[in-house]
This record gives sequence, C-alpha cells and structure tokens, in this order.
Amino acid sequence: MKVDVLLGLQWGDEGKGKVVDVLTPNYDVIARFQGGPNAGHSLEFNNIRHVLHTIPSGIFHKDTINIIGNGVVIDPVIFKKEIDSLVKMGVDASSRLLISKRAHLILPTHRILDAASEAYKGKSKIGSTLKGIGPAYMDKTGRNGLRIGDITGNNFIEKYQALVEKHKQIIRQYKYTYNLSGYEKEWYDGIDTLKGFQFVDSEQLINTYTHENKKVLAEGAQGTLLDIDFGTYPYVTSSNTICAGACTGLGIAPNKIGDVFGIFKAYCTRVGSGPFPTELFDETGKALQKFGNEFGSTTGRARRCGWLDLPALKYAIMINGATQLIMTKADVMDQFDIIKVAVAYKYQGQATVSFPFDMNEPIEPVYKEMKGWKTDLTKITAEDQFPDEFLQYMDFIEKEVGVPVKIVSVGPDRKQIIFRKNVKTYIG
Ligand code: GDP
Ligand code: IMO
Ligand code: MG
Repeated sequence: MKVDVLLGLQWGDEGKGKVVDVLTPNYDVIARFQGGPNAGHSLEFNNIRHVLHTIPSGIFHKDTINIIGNGVVIDPVIFKKEIDSLVKMGVDASSRLLISKRAHLILPTHRILDAASEAYKGKSKIGSTLKGIGPAYMDKTGRNGLRIGDITGNNFIEKYQALVEKHKQIIRQYKYTYNLSGYEKEWYDGIDTLKGFQFVDSEQLINTYTHENKKVLAEGAQGTLLDIDFGTYPYVTSSNTICAGACTGLGIAPNKIGDVFGIFKAYCTRVGSGPFPTELFDETGKALQKFGNEFGSTTGRARRCGWLDLPALKYAIMINGATQLIMTKADVMDQFDIIKVAVAYKYQGQATVSFPFDMNEPIEPVYKEMKGWKTDLTKITAEDQFPDEFLQYMDFIEKEVGVPVKIVSVGPDRKQIIFRKNVKTYIG
C-alpha cells in the first residue's frame, strides 16, 4: 500500500489538523514528517477546540497509530504540555503514539538563539514563532544535534551540556541576555515525559506497515510557501514542507507515495514577515480576519489576510504533485458581494503567471472578479446544496490549476465537511 500525504499549499494554517482528523478513520497510521512546535493544528468536535503542535492530528482516534517522524524537531517542554492536556481530555497517548529515534531535540538554548537572531535582525526579522526551530535544524544539518535516541543512550547529560556550552558562546556574540535555569528544569521534566513513550526506528516500521497493506497518511506542517527551498526565502521555515519532505522526514521512497492531498484556504493568510502579493489592508482584509478568526494557533498573532493567489497555488501544486485538492474556509466569505482571485502578477513591468525568484520585489496582482454566493455554507451537508456562485468559484479554480477539489470544509467542526463525488477529471 502506498503512503498518502496531506500538506499545506499556502503559508500554513490551511486547516490541516481539522482535515487529518476527519480522514483518520480511513487510515491505520498518521505520521508527522517535519516541523515542530511552530505548528498549531486545530481540531474541533463535541464543542471542544484542541490545538496540537508536535503530536499528529490522528491522536483522538483510539485505533490509529500516530508517529512523530525523524524529520520533526521536538521540544520536550511543549511535548509534555500537549500530553498533559490530552490526559485531561481522557486521551492516553502513550498507547497510540510512537516517536522516531532519529527526530531531533529542541534545546532551551535553541529557543534563546532563535530570539537572539530575530532581535539582531531587527526590522528584517523573519517573524519566527520563536520556538527554536531554525537553530535546531541548523544543528541537525551542522551535525551537532541531539536526537530522541540519545536520551536513552550513554552520556546524554554530558552531550546536552556540551551543546549548551557551544550555544552560550554564540549567544554571547549576540550580546543577548537570558535566563536559562527555569526552562532547563522544565526541559528535563519533558525528557522524563518523553521516556514514557516508545522510541522506534520509524522508517523501518512505516515500510513494514506499507508491506502489510496498512494505510499510512503523512501529515505536513506549515505550507509550501514556507518551504526552505521553494518558499518566499528568507521568510520561510527551516524544513522541507513539501511532498519530498515526507520522503526524507519518514524514510519513504518516492515511488511509495500515493495520493497527495493539497489543502488551501479559499483566500490567503500569512503570519510573520515576508511577501504576500494579494494582502489586503482594507475593510475586506479586516473582514477576512474577523470572520475567519485569523489569529495564530501557536502564537495568537493576527494573521495577515488577502485574496486567493492562483500563480502561487499553481506553483505549490506543481512542486508537490498534488493529486487532489481540499478547500477550506470558503464560508468565511459567505457575506461578500464580490470575491477576487489573483490570476497573474505584474512583475518588473511584465505580466506573468509564474512564481518569481525574488518575491520581495514589488508585485501587483491581476485580479478576476467573481460574484459572491451570499449563502451560509456552514449549514451545507451535501454537495447538491452548494449555491451556483460557489460552484462557479470552485470550477474556476479547478480549471486554472488543473486538479479537482475533492473535499470542501465548511466550518471548523469535524462534521462540517463535504466529500464531492461530482468532480471533473483534468489533464494536468
Ligand atoms: P493548520 O495549521 O493547517 O492545522 O490550521 P490551523 O488550525 O492553524 O488554522 C485553521 C483554523 O481554521 C482553525 O481555527 C480551524 O478550526 C479553522 N477551520 C478549519 N477549517 C475551517 C473551515 O472550513 N471554515 C472555518 N470557518 N474554519 C475552519
Ligand atoms: P502550521 O503547521 C503558519 C511561520 C512563522 C514565520 C516563519 C518562520 O500551523 O500551518 P519558524 O518558527 O518556523 O522559524 O517561523 O514561518 N510559521 C507558520 N505560519 N503556520 C505554521 O504552521 C507556521 N510555522 C511557522 O510565522 O513567519
Ligand atoms: Mg496552524
């Protein structure tokens, strides 16, 4: 059995957590492949909203195995908080969560380095979530990192202290003041919590599962436009958020990838700094933020909002080989008279439909205007109830990008989802 992948096609927060939770009953295994506690994946059911950061979004289904893959970076402090809040909800994660021995640890000093680096950058800061993601991946690629498997190996504390000493020297160069002791104590408590879980060779396990015809869904974090290689560099995260990241982040060969579910919002949001061609600074932007409740699940920061950007979406679909699309949050635009979609960019004096190398240059979107549907989509329970204007909006997107929208999310709750049967086949 091949491994399916679900990943974000924009700047994150597309609704991955919600949709993975909905799809989980179709899978035996849900495996996170990259990122760390910079992610905030929200799920809603029985009037409870839950936000996951490191733990895969299949955790609420008792018969599903959840794996934190080798590509993920783990902060024990945040991991412990996640486990504690699951325990409060009566979820015993230890019986259904496995952790790769090869996943890297985020140290308290990684967080300090993140903060020091951002402070040093001043106005040109990335707008990081300050969870230590960049420094932890730097230590991974710099071959200095500590891994989950080291926790139970020899000299873990000595290895930890040696790396912290190295970090302290770098922090000194930033002339950044900090207090380590409180967080360090919490960190060791988190290490104790981690020890209550099974550390596994997840690449072996996942390949065994696929040979046994078990169904695996790889869950991405962030989104394609935040990818370290293909995102709006340098305003990106430090991992490969794209489909190829599922191969390296779980140990799956490229020919073992099955369906690639690309998820996108019916408009765009971005949190943190960096280019955003269709960003709106007017009342419409404010309406998207208000009705979409666009505040970060991890940091609480207000998300920047704007119209759907088709050149960027096409680029993301190409990079990932998305085989089907999932559209979320169109309900946020239920009251809009007019909805705009960017179909091209004016860039360096010329119209283009491709995604430019330097997105930090001025870009003017070229818009197509469409009529709003003025219908409450959140109450819709079957595809034949979709209003015509909404179908036209979706049809237009599908034709432009050449991939069908097979799933439509119409609200935050698990139940607010429509699986479409009536989809056309496009020649990509
Ligand atoms: P993720 O990071 O991709 O998992 O997305 P987040 O959870 O950070 O952000 C998505 C937000 O939109 C969450 O608050 C979800 O509860 C909410 N959400 C998801 N799908 C829908 C939808 O179709 N409509 C509305 N109105 N909200 C949604
Ligand atoms: P989910 O999985 C939205 C953004 C940050 C910042 C940049 C770098 O919930 O979609 P980092 O902390 O990685 O150094 O931040 O990336 N960012 C996200 N934006 N959703 C996320 O995750 C994000 N994870 C990181 O705001 O601009
Ligand atoms: Mg999120």
